Amino acid sequence: MPALVLLGAQWGDEGKGKATDLLGGSVDYVVRYQGGNNAGHTVVVGDQKYALHLLPSGILSPGCTPVIGNGVVVDPSVLFSELSGLNERGVDTSKLLISGNAHIITPYNVTVDKVTERFLGKRKIGTTGRGIGPTYADKINRVGIRVQDLYDESILTQKVEAALDVKNQMLTKFYNRRAIATDQVVGELLGYADKLAPYVTDTVLVLNQALEQDKVVLFEGGQGTLLDIDHGTYPFVTSSNPTAGGACTGAGVGPTKITRVIGILKAYTTRVGAGPFPTELFDEDGEALRRIGGERGVTTGRDRRCGWFDAVIARYATRVNGLTDFFLTKLDVLTGWEQIPVCVAYEIDGKRVEELPYSQTDFHHAKPVYEMLPGWSEDITGAKSFSDLPKNAQAYVKALEEMSGAPISAIGVGPGRDETIQINSFL
Ligand code: GDP
Ligand code: IMO
Ligand code: MG
Repeated sequence: MPALVLLGAQWGDEGKGKATDLLGGSVDYVVRYQGGNNAGHTVVVGDQKYALHLLPSGILSPGCTPVIGNGVVVDPSVLFSELSGLNERGVDTSKLLISGNAHIITPYNVTVDKVTERFLGKRKIGTTGRGIGPTYADKINRVGIRVQDLYDESILTQKVEAALDVKNQMLTKFYNRRAIATDQVVGELLGYADKLAPYVTDTVLVLNQALEQDKVVLFEGGQGTLLDIDHGTYPFVTSSNPTAGGACTGAGVGPTKITRVIGILKAYTTRVGAGPFPTELFDEDGEALRRIGGERGVTTGRDRRCGWFDAVIARYATRVNGLTDFFLTKLDVLTGWEQIPVCVAYEIDGKRVEELPYSQTDFHHAKPVYEMLPGWSEDITGAKSFSDLPKNAQAYVKALEEMSGAPISAIGVGPGRDETIQINSFL
């Protein structure tokens, strides 16, 4: 019963989509367990490029059943536009399963996300504006709308009314916006019910039965470890748990079932939105990483902030996720630098610190301590095995592995499925 968790080890956009797609051909189920359409996963198959937001990346593998777990927040309008976009390109999406317990991103959640960010001004989080935070807030406040609510009009109306009672006070009296009418929201949500029905099921039962039958299940995280609501750089985080434990709660599978936890790790670092980032570059090296790495958000089109590899963060990801493997991505982007700085520790108030400080004040003051590693100039995009890599690229990978605390079992040398060096099998 192999059950693999695949998650981001940094601040998101590490290449989870490509890694999931690569494994998609050998797994039976790919499950999203948290987040929603704040994610942007680019998958390149041959000459085709797909941008996925809400759907699991396994949807592109014909033998694989894609699952949206109970921990995900679902915007039905986005779901259907993503499905029809794939259908138009000949992708069969009929196997998709959606948990009846997943929460729905309602139009008022999107409005609240936008007005809150605007109100925060300079202090804003830089959210994707997709209603993610407010939907999870409603879930925890016990005023959320779940997929299954679409099948009982009276319950749905009561719940929308309860949610809007408070929100309309806030929208009209505080934010100076128009009130949102219950019947309009209920009407829109009911409009999705029939179309959604064929996909809705008890995904917890399906997944546990699959594991009992020795099927291979892959849990695909959105975002990344440092964006985790509990373990990330709070408050500059997303509102769910991308870390490994989130796979258990967000899919209804016990921790004893998980056999492998794979951290996707970029060979340098990026982040989108606000918040601390010790190795961030504001010079031409940062510009070059952004240009060569194509570091522009798939969801919001924002430029990603870029910086050198941070081993303190990688070690932290190993610890909080119990990582068994790393998948190092985008090594090819580093080709051409004579020397590559790698952050091995921080200096905080004059002291050297080896591990991520738990205090946000300390983290905001952390200055990277760099070690210089020799670079390489040879094109590595065609490398098929570790020994095909130039000696300095091999040494870079080995140094990162040593510092990060888990074996690097695969290396990405380009965006395509086949531009991967597999060192240890994941299955
Ligand atoms: P995700 O959110 O973690 O799925 O990552 P994104 O898709 O947002 O960003 C990763 C980007 O890097 C995508 O454009 C991928 O096609 C691309 N990518 C993934 N792996 C590699 C790699 O090894 N080399 C290069 N050059 N690009 C890669
Ligand atoms: P993938 O899955 C990078 C960031 C936003 C913002 C913060 C909160 O493609 O790696 P939210 O809309 O979630 O409330 O925004 O989290 N963020 C991401 N950054 N990759 C993502 O997803 C992200 N999803 C959210 O930029 O800083
Ligand atoms: Mg992304």
